[in-house]
Amino acid sequence: MAKGIFITLEGGEGGGKSSQARMLGDVLTSRGYNVLLTREPGGSTGAEAIRRLLVEGPGGKWDGITEALLHTAARRDHLVNVVWPALDAGKIVISDRFSDSTLAYQGSAYGVAKQVLLDLYKAAIGDFKPTITFILDLPVDAGLARAASRGGKETRYESMGEEFHIKVRQGFLDIAKDEPGRCKLVDATKDLETIHRAILADVDKVLPPVK
Ligand SMILES: Nc1ncnc2c1ncn2[C@@H]1O[C@H](COP(=O)(O)OP(=O)(O)O)[C@@H](O)[C@H]1O
Ligand SMILES: [Mg+2]
Repeated sequence: MAKGIFITLEGGEGGGKSSQARMLGDVLTSRGYNVLLTREPGGSTGAEAIRRLLVEGPGGKWDGITEALLHTAARRDHLVNVVWPALDAGKIVISDRFSDSTLAYQGSAYGVAKQVLLDLYKAAIGDFKPTITFILDLPVDAGLARAASRGGKETRYESMGEEFHIKVRQGFLDIAKDEPGRCKLVDATKDLETIHRAILADVDKVLPPVK
């Protein structure tokens, strides 16, 4: 199907996903690529409406499976309306979070069985996968401190407590170990520019020629 490539940035709070997505988008745009920068949950009109249900308000308002269903509904809407058409048009799509976040947050941290999440993914999305995924890893306290410096009202996941975020981090480390071909583990304690260069070096290996 896809002529473009789909790059996802994953990891816990404050790892620098949004910063690195912007930096990567800027450099690829300056090289002449047609880049679409997007995010999950959200990225399409319907999915942004679902995002507000997920990222605002008190921590305990959904159980794990309900939350996984909401993320999956948002993901399908985002793919159908934004990501798949962009890939068909040959764009480089960079998403700030994607399905590995569901495995780490609703799976490892909430405790929803991995097979349930994989079945849900298969039913809603099929065999589609990112071309390459960067998992930005850093100690939980450092990530939460960075995230807190950002402010705003999208603090629901940040408010979950340290133990929750330790499970999230372990979940991402497990994914990186299980899928070393697709997933590149990145030391997110380094400075922004060093991380950017490491990401770009791996992206260069999968980039098509500029049209
Ligand atoms: N490598 C880094 N070193 C120092 N500060 C960083 C780094 N990456 C991001 N930050 C800062 O940490 C905060 C959270 O970064 P952000 O990109 O929003 O992370 P995420 O999207 O993963 O939650 C921002 O204020 C950002 O400027
Ligand atoms: Mg972010």
